[in-house]
Amino acid sequence: MKKVITYGSFDLFHEGHYKLLQRAKALGDYLIVGVTTESYDAHRGKLNVMDSIMERIENVRQTGFVDEIIIEDHAGQKVEDIQRYGVDIFTVGSDWLGAFDYLKQYCEVVYLERTKGISSTSLRAKNYNIVQIGVIGTGRIANRFVPEAKYVSGLTVESVYHPKVEKAKAYAEKFELNHYYDNFNDFLQSVDAVYIASPHETHGEYIEKALLQKKHVLCEKPMLLKKKEAEEFYELAEKQNCVLMEGIKTAYCPGFSQLLGIVRSGEIGEVRDVEACFTKLEKPTSRELKDSLYGGSFTELASYPLLAIVKLLGRNYKDIRFETFQNEEGIDLYTKAYLRYESSLATAKVGLGVKSEGQMIISGTKGYIIVEAPWWKTKSFEVRFEDAAMEDKYFSKFLGDGLRYELSDFVSMINGFAGKNHKLTTKESVWLAEIMEKFLAERRQQQLLKKI
Ligand code: CTP
Repeated sequence: MKKVITYGSFDLFHEGHYKLLQRAKALGDYLIVGVTTESYDAHRGKLNVMDSIMERIENVRQTGFVDEIIIEDHAGQKVEDIQRYGVDIFTVGSDWLGAFDYLKQYCEVVYLERTKGISSTSLRAKNYNIVQIGVIGTGRIANRFVPEAKYVSGLTVESVYHPKVEKAKAYAEKFELNHYYDNFNDFLQSVDAVYIASPHETHGEYIEKALLQKKHVLCEKPMLLKKKEAEEFYELAEKQNCVLMEGIKTAYCPGFSQLLGIVRSGEIGEVRDVEACFTKLEKPTSRELKDSLYGGSFTELASYPLLAIVKLLGRNYKDIRFETFQNEEGIDLYTKAYLRYESSLATAKVGLGVKSEGQMIISGTKGYIIVEAPWWKTKSFEVRFEDAAMEDKYFSKFLGDGLRYELSDFVSMINGFAGKNHKLTTKESVWLAEIMEKFLAERRQQQLLKKI
């Protein structure tokens, strides 16, 4: 009996998939199809797969050509499968020509002519409107946005807004955008959604204007610095039927999701402590260390450790305390936030003027997890126990600057896949604004006392 194997995502099942499977079956007597998992697709940079794995499997099964369906969930699996199932022929469409020649040492490799004029990518574009995004701000983070957006299907970056027209123009030229604006209303008319990467204190005004014009909003962290404002804008977003999403890249990356899954499975028992650190040295002359109202290490960096804390311990802390070192203007160069929960503790440690190891340690009643620096780009973590023989290490990919993950979820949510919201819920995002507000109120108090 001649065994044939092929693999794919088979998203939005189409004629090209059908014909490929039909011809694959005709190559032998028994056809095995490997359907990719969502996490493996994310791992290999294929974001925005629309159908669930069960739907994709069902569609492959319904062709009637397939004798066995397996799941493909990791790189290197093809060699394992070929040996395990005693496969004679590996086949795939001609878009992969040459890519699988390395399998020739295990079996015959056949590239089948790809059906012209159809693909999951083109169907995604047809079924869902391409989301036209406009960028607000032209600084460091905004500069990462357009290159990252190229990896996400279903969107185009259309235009940029900056109150200074020459800055908007330079950005548009650099990234070959169609339009640039210094008039915010005109800018809004040119897009379906906005990405806000302007200074923290300007977010609120842009969010409100965009939502009132029924534009979806993805906003850099910290999205807002006041709890009430955050609550109001989420309400407004709901009323306007718009997506409002806080862009903390860690929340949307595969490694961090996996980490949360392991903790929630009870692997390290009850979580009793979370210690997370993020430092980034900045020049004393930088905006972050000059702006005495909104600058400083906490507003700049604390969203990351606080995200980990709220995901791992929830929102119901009993007490919070801040300790800081400040420069002469009363801007925090280094801050530690201590949170006390009913039965656990947490520390968020951030610095723009102090350098430390950017790791996270999650301590539990059965064991602990170390997430190596930079933990906010979660690539690997170790689960450790009293018995060292039980240690386990997990690896994940964090591609590029990581913005592609949040962008991919943003586009999915715009297209009605609301389930993605669990990665950073509205309530968690409001909680982050509440902590920022508390910190800033305390710092303002200290700044005033200094002046007296
Ligand atoms: N395929 C094909 N003809 C097409 C599209 C896909 O023969 N028009 C084949 C691919 O070469 C592959 C299999 O179908 O062997 C599964 O491909 P998959 O990547 O799931 O489908 P695509 O439509 O190519 O997906 P995407 O646009 O997301 O890359």
